[in-house]
Amino acid sequence: MSERDNRHVLVTGGCGFIGCNLADRLADRGDRVLVLDNLARAGVRENAQWLKSRHGDRITIAVADIRDPIPVIDAVREARAVLHLAAQVAVTDSVSDPAADFEINARGTLNVLEAVRLHNSAAPVIFASTNKVYGRLIEDSEIALRGRRYTPVSDLLSGGISESAPLDFYSPYGCSKGTADQYVHDYSRVFGLQTAVMRMSCIYGPRQFGTEDQGWIAHFLLSAIRGNPLTIYGDGKQVRDALHVSDAVNAWLAALDHIALARGRVFNLGGGPANAVSLLELIDRITELTGRTVTYRFADWRPGDQPWYVTDTQALTAALGWTPQVSLAEGLRSLHTWLDSRFGSQDRSEALA
Ligand SMILES: NC(=O)c1ccc[n+]([C@@H]2O[C@H](COP(=O)([O-])OP(=O)(O)OC[C@H]3O[C@@H](n4cnc5c(N)ncnc54)[C@H](O)[C@@H]3O)[C@@H](O)[C@H]2O)c1
Repeated sequence: MSERDNRHVLVTGGCGFIGCNLADRLADRGDRVLVLDNLARAGVRENAQWLKSRHGDRITIAVADIRDPIPVIDAVREARAVLHLAAQVAVTDSVSDPAADFEINARGTLNVLEAVRLHNSAAPVIFASTNKVYGRLIEDSEIALRGRRYTPVSDLLSGGISESAPLDFYSPYGCSKGTADQYVHDYSRVFGLQTAVMRMSCIYGPRQFGTEDQGWIAHFLLSAIRGNPLTIYGDGKQVRDALHVSDAVNAWLAALDHIALARGRVFNLGGGPANAVSLLELIDRITELTGRTVTYRFADWRPGDQPWYVTDTQALTAALGWTPQVSLAEGLRSLHTWLDSRFGSQDRSEALA
């Protein structure tokens, strides 16, 4: 019987929303985890404390920046595998500071890849890419309005967007993540690294500190809990497929555990047609769930915003047997429970003060 590989799994961005859920699940099943995170995202220090309180020494947290190659090499050198999620995540911030966005997302990813290539080339690398690499995807003439959501005119898109859709990076964030996506993919072809790319749609769930700039489902729900008005960029009829973070973690672990099947591949990862929802429809669901009326105003569309994006998950299902398990209704309840326990009582006491 082969001995268990006891080296750590490196999770960059492991204090962030998806990263900490991944690190938590890895540690739960007995893996040692090294998290590398510079704690740039507001709120994620709390995720670091949560991980430590749950797992103690099984999880080590290195506060470091992926733009600095030295700590990246140190973290990669002894790793069993590398899950790379650290990133500048907001399209808005990428527009206000494209150079910083490039340095973190493109250069930072190259630092991770070079560390693996030069110091630990057998380690699998899985990368958190985005549906933004496909750009706007669909012309206004190709979508129709059905109720409170857009829908593609062509039935050919009813199953969602597959990995064969042409790349069309849009926004500095789309460009920097797309660059990283292509580097990660290419390092499997040119250097034989065991890499896989996950092009994720909208992921939501507990431990997401969503803001207006990123993490819109958590932001909408928290605004409802707090009674804060929302700004909707665009007309609110744009559609996304939502995936609960526990399902996203399942997909990442399936790719990690079956890297021989996933290596060299690019997968679209999202909730699929069954979990597609428009912004306005989500507000209706939130009103039903929380019993609170959500007030909102409209503002201009943001750069690169897709009027309709739904993931075709068939490639992931065929390769790894993965399918989403958590419905949008169930997932929203789980996020609501977490947000209410984390922020609800604080807000109630502030309101009473
Ligand atoms: N949440 C989504 O819906 C979604 C969709 C598509 C892709 N993604 C990608 O998934 C990954 C994780 O997203 P998330 O929602 O968990 O975001 P997040 O902001 O919660 O997590 C990102 C983490 O990276 C850390 N970080 C930022 N800059 C860093 C740097 N220079 N060095 C080290 N750490 C740094 C932050 O502190 C944070 O903890 C990102 O790469 C993002 O682009 C997320």
